[in-house]
Order: sequence, then C-alpha cells, then structure tokens
Amino acid sequence: MARNVAALVVTVLFASAAQAATPTPKAPTPPMGWNSWNHFAGKIDDATVRAQADAMASSGLRDAGYRYINIDDTWEGERDASGVIHSNAKFPDMKALADYVHSKGLKLGIYSSPGAKTCAGFAGSLGHEAQDAKTYAAWGIDYLKYDLCSLGDSMRAAGSLEKSQAIELEAYRKMDLALKATGRPIVYSLCQYGFYQPWRWGASVGGVLWRTTGDISDKFARMVQIAEMQAGLSKFQTPGHWNDPDMLEVGNGGMTALEYRTHMSLWAILAAPLLAGNDLTKMSPETLSILANKGVIAIDQDPLGRQGDRVRQEGPLEVWARPLAGGGKAVGLFNLSDLPANMAVTTGDLGLKGAVPMHDVWADKDLGRQKAYHAVVPAHGVVLLRLGRPGA
Ligand code: GAL
Repeated sequence: MARNVAALVVTVLFASAAQAATPTPKAPTPPMGWNSWNHFAGKIDDATVRAQADAMASSGLRDAGYRYINIDDTWEGERDASGVIHSNAKFPDMKALADYVHSKGLKLGIYSSPGAKTCAGFAGSLGHEAQDAKTYAAWGIDYLKYDLCSLGDSMRAAGSLEKSQAIELEAYRKMDLALKATGRPIVYSLCQYGFYQPWRWGASVGGVLWRTTGDISDKFARMVQIAEMQAGLSKFQTPGHWNDPDMLEVGNGGMTALEYRTHMSLWAILAAPLLAGNDLTKMSPETLSILANKGVIAIDQDPLGRQGDRVRQEGPLEVWARPLAGGGKAVGLFNLSDLPANMAVTTGDLGLKGAVPMHDVWADKDLGRQKAYHAVVPAHGVVLLRLGRPGA
C-alpha cells in the first residue's frame, strides 16, 4: 500500500513537472486576423489600422474568430541615441494604438526583420533584438512577424549550406529568446519564404508559425502554386505550430468569388493561419460571407489541430483532406482546371468505412449518410465536405 502511494506521489510529481515544463501553446489553433501588407503595402498608418480594427469588430469578423490586427512593414522610424526603435510619423503613438485595438477586443501585431533592414528598407532588429522585444512588450504588442529580408544577404555570402542555415536559425532563435525574456506572450511568426524547409526546424527556434513559400499575390495561378507546395507537409506539423502558406487575398479583387472560396477551402484544409489581407472597411457582402463562413472557419480551427494533405491527384483535379476532432474529416474536391469536371470521392478513399454523414460546407446542406460523393465541380472551384465519423 505504502509503495503504491509512493508510486502515485512520484507519478503525480512527474506529471506536474512535465506540465510545468510544457510551454502553453500561444496559438492552439491557427492564428486568425488581418495584416496590412496585401492591400495597403506601404500606405499604412495609425488611422487606417484603427479603421481596420473598427471594421473587424463591426463586421462580425471578430466574433467569427478573427483577432489579430497586424501592422506589416513601413511603421519603423529611427533609433534614438540608446538604440531604442521609434515608430515613424505615420504611427505617432504605438502604445496608444495598441490600447485602442485592445479596447475593441482585438490584439495588435507588428513586423520586423532579423537583418539590418526590412524588405521595404526600414530599420530591422539586427543587434537590437532584446531592446526591440522589450519595446514591443512595453507597447502591448501580441504578435511579431519576423521577416528575413536583408539577413538573406549574409546567408548567401556564408559560403555553404550549413553556414547559411546556421545564420538563419541563430537569428530566429535569438529573437525568440528576446521575446520570451519580456514575459509577454507574443505569437512569433517566422517569415523566411520557405528557405531551408522551416517545417523541419521552425518549432525548434520558437516559431508558432512559419512561412513555407514566397509571397502570395492576388492571382488564382499564384494562389494554387502556393497551395501545391504544401503537399507532403502535414507529417511535419504538430498542434500549436503552423505551416503558413501566406496571408489571404480574399476580397482584393484579383480573383472571382468562386476562386476565393477555393483559396479559403485550401487554407482551411491546410490548417493555415487565416489573416485577411483586404480592406475590411470596404468589403462586399460576398467577401464578408467568404471570410466569415462558419463551417469553413470551424474546419480551419478544428481542435484536433492537424493539417491536411493531398490524398489524390488526377492532373488539375485534386482531393485534399484533413482529420477532424471526433474522427471525422474535411474533404475538398478541387477542380483547378479551366473547364467544369466530374469529380468523385468515396469514404474508402479517405480511410473511413461505409456510409458516413456528409455536409456540403459552402452550400450549408446536409447530404445524409453516404458512402460516396460525386458532383460536377466548376472550373477553378471546390466542393468542400465535412464528413462525420463512421457510426456517428
Ligand atoms: C516580404 C514578405 C511580405 C511582406 C513584405 C514587406 O518579404 O514576405 O509578406 O511582409 O516583405 O516588405
């Protein structure tokens, strides 16, 4: 008996020690929010960010799950004599802006680079990592996108793959330690265009998410090209850490509504961060309905936290699926060709047995219990299904 009690005490002690050592994930599901770059690029300022925060709240997107308002490049001003970074004239008071964004029930993100210069040529954090992290924490920043930019020059000059990669990892690790030292939970987003397969090492340098490719653009072909580059990555993904195929283009005007639904569906199956990249103050009802679709968001934010992958490809006809909490699956039948196509999937293709409950997510329609599904999928379109587990 005494031995059993002792064993129990030891087990409990070990369990709580293990718990204490496990850092709380800063993003148990993929981060959702907005980022300034895709729509505004360098034309971003305090008033515009406040307006986006207002629109995030008033449009219903905040309540649909979108939380972060992320300022991208071009906010940076000069460093003072002691090296402290200040925002430029477009952002007169970053702390006041953070307070405003927080007052709306939202969080504020910021951007920097491990290099001396950001991609738009502003001051990066090289040599000032600890100082910058402290400044961000003092302002009340909740998210940092850390963009490789000019550090890439040192990497290219390093002379070998090993040395180049070591420079990259060291730089990202350094900022992670600096952020942790502030004691403020700040979601750490690595932006390094997929250099050296970040899915293999992103979590080891403290990344919560990391970019897997170069920049997205508001074109169907580029969006698809990025999605294709995610095939095979699901096995590297663990809950709380996310492959980032870049921010959304939904609502920016370069794709049709159908193509934007394909974009959202792919991102949801990929458990990708959902960072809207449009002007939230000027959304059409259609754009809002795509970004705010409950069924799609529920797939992206599924508590199992597991990224999906391509399960079948027949040229431009692709089936992608991800596992969901409770044993179900999300499945997308993607027709990436320029003509309508007949597409089909069976539960057996997805490792499920027999008939299961099926729901068409975009149509928000129950399809009953089925063993198979087939449909004509429009050119550049998708049918997104939510499948229950067998026996459900
Ligand atoms: C790129 C980055 C973009 C954007 C831009 C700002 O490197 O991938 O998402 O942040 O820099 O200059």
